[in-house]
Amino acid sequence: MKSTLIIAAIALVLGVIAGVNIHKFQARQHEKTTATMVLLQLHLKSWESAVQDKQCPRAQSELMSLKFLSQEIGVVLPLADSQDTAFHQHAVKLEQELDAAASRQCAVSMTEIKSVREACNECHREYR
Ligand code: HEC
Repeated sequence: MKSTLIIAAIALVLGVIAGVNIHKFQARQHEKTTATMVLLQLHLKSWESAVQDKQCPRAQSELMSLKFLSQEIGVVLPLADSQDTAFHQHAVKLEQELDAAASRQCAVSMTEIKSVREACNECHREYR
């Protein structure tokens, strides 16, 4: 009886430790994803305003940041990116839209920006 209680107590303590660590892991995961997403949002806005102001060099540098950050999605969410095909496809779609915009160089217009924003939203509709 006494040993059963001791085992139960140990199990409880281990359970609490595991729970706290899982929670910490999830919080860190969430933090990294949020950081990447907030930066994507910021550079998307700056890119849009640079295109509207017809400032090509600034627009191109914003687009470079977006391309870099879109590749970071697989880095901050490695499991989703490697094991969930649909998620990976959404990330690839975003990269493709950014490449398409980059190939237009200084001729980028609101059309390309709309397509990029749509690629963000397509993933969010399913995963956010
Ligand atoms: C492949 C999927 C995917 C793509 C593509 C994607 N996102 Fe996200 N986004 C997510 C997920 C998942 C979350 C929720 C993250 C969380 O809560 O941990 C999110 C959350 C966000 C958030 C909310 C962050 C917060 O404050 O909690 C913003 C802003 C955001 N994304 C912006 C963007 C922008 C801008 C783009 C396109 C340039 C984009 N995302 C493309 C998956 C994606």
